[in-house]
Amino acid sequence: MSNIILTGDRPTGRLHLGHYVGSLRRRVELQNSGKFDKIFIEIADAQAITDNYKNLDKIRENVIEVALDYLACGIDPAKSTIFVQSGIPELCELTFYYLNLVTLSRLERNPTIKEEIKLRNFETSIPAGFLTYPVSQAADITLFDANTVPVGDDQLPMIEQTREIVRSFNSIYGDTFVEPKAVLPETETECRLPGLDGKAKMSKSLGNCIYLADEPEVIEKKIMGMFTDPNHLRVEDPGKVEGNPVFIYLEAFARDEHFAKYLPEYKNLDELKDHYSRGGLGDVKIKRFLNNVIQEELKPIRERRKELQKNIPGVYKILEEGTLKAREDGIKKIEEVRRKMRINYFEDKDLIKAHTDKYLDN
Ligand code: TRP
Repeated sequence: MSNIILTGDRPTGRLHLGHYVGSLRRRVELQNSGKFDKIFIEIADAQAITDNYKNLDKIRENVIEVALDYLACGIDPAKSTIFVQSGIPELCELTFYYLNLVTLSRLERNPTIKEEIKLRNFETSIPAGFLTYPVSQAADITLFDANTVPVGDDQLPMIEQTREIVRSFNSIYGDTFVEPKAVLPETETECRLPGLDGKAKMSKSLGNCIYLADEPEVIEKKIMGMFTDPNHLRVEDPGKVEGNPVFIYLEAFARDEHFAKYLPEYKNLDELKDHYSRGGLGDVKIKRFLNNVIQEELKPIRERRKELQKNIPGVYKILEEGTLKAREDGIKKIEEVRRKMRINYFEDKDLIKAHTDKYLDN
């Protein structure tokens, strides 16, 4: 069996540090590990339409932004196929067949969907397209025979739904699809990077993000204004490390080399944490250090993005070529699906012969 990755993002905004820590960094590692036969990265515009159908400009503006962020982070189109969901009509076809294999009540039990319905005030009337997007996501994953889906834990219900659909399809129509597995980030911090304001999650709607494309001054300003331990009023006071976003970010980014370079009084993060907890270490100092670390991490990404921005038609070309390439695999798979479902009438010689024979005597 081949090892195939599929993952993706909705193009509703630029990508931020939360995306980077939770998935982009990992994707680049997996891409470069050489362990995968194929890697598909989907810009899920059709899924984004399910809750933005009145505001398509937002999606139209952000497909390219997400592509720029991907490429800037090191997604390499020679190794990973980046494609745009709406460019693959076979996904719609597969979704249509899959919809027979799930019930409305099953869809309504999906915890991520439940949460999203609340957030969007859809309680009284849920658009059918929105409720069924997990089915379309099952098509995204399975049309490309992906067995590995690197995602955040909020996507686990989607993978479970996909596995159920695969089992159901295989048992009715014969073995056709593999049951994919989710690959989650390794640490709690990677799963959910808190916002600059200390809120549970960095998210565009909360306005508490550092974007990958932010300029150095903007990043510095955001970091120097970060929430820390509200009870750490004077430098001498003991500070709290747990739940302190500055330390959580340092967990995610700071390596011992950073200490040697920017804060040689400390060997590593443990020493810094000890001092902060004891008291005598001010917030400005740890924020300055964090700023140095984040600046170092984001500089090459921003510089690559700027280069790419000079050739936007080239980036659209990458998306177009990726979409055509992914579609070739999609077409092959949908042909197999039609054969398994026995709706491939025109190529089914036996069917044509049987029906010929049926009317031969008349
Ligand atoms: N639902 C995912 C998100 O909101 C995006 C997505 C669409 C996806 N299709 C996918 C993720 C397939 C993994 C696999 O982030």
